[in-house]
Amino acid sequence: MSNNKNFFEAPQAAAVYKHKLIKSYIPAWAGKVGSTSEDKRVVVYDAYSGPGRYEDEQPGSPELLVDTADAMANLRSVFSVFSEKDQGYCDRLSELLVEKDIDTDTYEVRRGPVEDHIDTVLSNAGELPLFVFLDPYGLTIPFDRVVYVLKSRDKTGYSRLLQPKTELLMNFSFEAVRRISGVVRSTKDYAAKQGQIDALNNALGGDWWQDLARDEPEGWVMDVLEGYADRVASAAECGYITADVADSLQAQPVYELILFTRHTDGFWEMARSMSMARKEWREWLVAAKEEATGGQVEFRGLDFDDDESAWVAELADNMEAILRSVPGFTVENKLGEVLGRTLGLAREMHIRKALKILEERKVIAIAPKGKLQKAYIARK
Ligand SMILES: C[S@@+](CC[C@H](N)C(=O)[O-])C[C@H]1O[C@@H](n2cnc3c(N)ncnc32)[C@H](O)[C@@H]1O
Repeated sequence: MSNNKNFFEAPQAAAVYKHKLIKSYIPAWAGKVGSTSEDKRVVVYDAYSGPGRYEDEQPGSPELLVDTADAMANLRSVFSVFSEKDQGYCDRLSELLVEKDIDTDTYEVRRGPVEDHIDTVLSNAGELPLFVFLDPYGLTIPFDRVVYVLKSRDKTGYSRLLQPKTELLMNFSFEAVRRISGVVRSTKDYAAKQGQIDALNNALGGDWWQDLARDEPEGWVMDVLEGYADRVASAAECGYITADVADSLQAQPVYELILFTRHTDGFWEMARSMSMARKEWREWLVAAKEEATGGQVEFRGLDFDDDESAWVAELADNMEAILRSVPGFTVENKLGEVLGRTLGLAREMHIRKALKILEERKVIAIAPKGKLQKAYIARK
């Protein structure tokens, strides 16, 4: 959305996706990492919080987070930190949390830009598991600061997996990249030009993106996203998983949500949450269209993204292909290859159906029962 003035009137489709993703992922994350943390405590930092709730009474990310924390209060102690640059939004958020009667020991609202708070939030989190959500309108904190968030709490002498657990979910704005990168194609000279180039260099971690922006090869914005995520992952010694988010079934994605994590559980849970979020997003779009047309929705043929039996067939083929090169594999260790084109669409129930097909094809002896994340799939 280019006009941010009306952003908090009512959530648009992309926000429906984002919010369902958070609602689905945070309980799984807190449940998992909080099981071994001190007093079962975890910290969630919503760094660009907004006012907490939309004007049409729909929850924004802060309200979803405190509701999640409240629902988990018997199992996990979730401390929520919010920061917001706009003083009016800070006031609205503080009032909302009081009105909801949220225990004041379980959250803090930090006024002012994320840049002023991030160091304190990291140091206050100590060694507790920390989830950071960066959801700006445009560019977020510089590349080096993103890496710093992911790595600065690492302790020397400990393996990667024994470090304090930090995950970071970022809204990577394609709109901002497209708009700002236009400066490298512009032949005009103007005062702000170098400043805009510097801003994107800082955000993306160098000037490597400039050739892509200048030549605009097919899919170049995706290449910028991948170039960025690869560089963060390599500098912070972590992996990432991404979901593109659009405002309609036909539209180009407005942003990409990138989760940076060091843990296979993170990939598994995020893939599941992406699938759940897409389902809700699609239902929301169909309902909105029905309302707009008085129930007259024309049904088009199913394309791959909406065809669950095609996902199952793809999953079966992907797993069969893996089993041609290795005698067996654990689902979570080959998740990217298992999901392939169905990443963001399929979840455990579809993998289960695909395994049944492999059993029928006699590729495997028997489809595993129970949870599949850690299931070992062996060639017959
Ligand atoms: C996309 S909205 C956040 C929406 C919110 N996460 C939600 O889902 O309900 C971005 C918010 O970031 C705030 N903002 C902009 N620059 C900021 C900064 N440097 N630090 C903190 N907040 C900032 C804006 O005022 C706006 O409320």
